[in-house]
Amino acid sequence: MEKITLNNGVNIPSVGVGVFRVEDAQVAYETVKLALSVGYRHIDTAMIYGNEEAVGKAMKDSGIAREEIFLTTKLWNDDQRSGKVAEAIEASLKRLGTDYVDLYLVHWPVKETYKNVWKKMEEVYKSGKAKAIGVSNYQPHHLDDLLQIAEVIPAVDQIECYPYLSQEAVIAYCKGKGIYPEAWGPLGAGKTDILVNPIITGIATTHGKSAAQVILRWNLQRGVIVIPKSIHEARLVENLSVTDFTLTAKQMEEISKLDKNLRLGSHPDNFNF
Ligand SMILES: NC(=O)c1ccc[n+]([C@@H]2O[C@H](COP(=O)([O-])OP(=O)(O)OC[C@H]3O[C@@H](n4cnc5c(N)ncnc54)[C@H](OP(=O)(O)O)[C@@H]3O)[C@@H](O)[C@H]2O)c1
Repeated sequence: MEKITLNNGVNIPSVGVGVFRVEDAQVAYETVKLALSVGYRHIDTAMIYGNEEAVGKAMKDSGIAREEIFLTTKLWNDDQRSGKVAEAIEASLKRLGTDYVDLYLVHWPVKETYKNVWKKMEEVYKSGKAKAIGVSNYQPHHLDDLLQIAEVIPAVDQIECYPYLSQEAVIAYCKGKGIYPEAWGPLGAGKTDILVNPIITGIATTHGKSAAQVILRWNLQRGVIVIPKSIHEARLVENLSVTDFTLTAKQMEEISKLDKNLRLGSHPDNFNF
């Protein structure tokens, strides 16, 4: 499993499994247990996904030592608005059945609070309840504001990112500040034709790989962590098998050219939750 070192020295596996929209506790439990059994050591959840308990139980029942698993959860927007960050991480830890997470992310840049919430995230970091802290869905202008008051530089910015939304500007900005970009919805979240796009499938054929593997590889090769979600064993295995081939510079460019700024999720400057 390839690992990346974040700006505070913490190591994160470059491929993780996401569990968004896996609300059924049994399915979430089985998915995480399956993922761990086929080799995943990085799990991405969030308070709002409603499955932290199932994730924690699966981790425990897997028999794998806690310190071998990289666990991310996120601070939901209501907890930013109420200012109850310490309470929110405590509640997440309780549900997860652990005394720390590896990465705690501010889920969205809530307009009224994103400038102040970071100080409270730094307190979480100093308490040891999160080995690293970061943000999600932050645009460069949000990060510019945050960096003016930050003592701790965010380790990660988790953003929507797949070939139709290549996010080159945000990624370049993050890299310039030592913030590691992480892609959510890396396979297009089951909402686009990206997995049957002929450029992608053509490249996949030349490597004897699937379209999903090619687009995950594209992000990894440009220095972006990926957290694809699947509840199926064959796909979990497929999505993890992306470090044994290399896309050529031309193939990387062909994929990047597919960008059409097509956002499938909400815009970070305009969301209503
Ligand atoms: N920070 C944020 O605001 C934010 C927002 C959204 C998501 N996320 C995180 O990012 C993770 C991934 O994003 P996502 O779940 O939205 O979308 P995604 O990983 O891009 O796509 C998941 C979809 O692709 C299917 N799939 C998975 N592997 C496949 C393969 N090899 N071939 C074909 N289809 C495949 C899955 O179906 P099956 O499950 O049926 O296999 C599911 O329908 C989430 O689970 C969550 O942890 C974060």
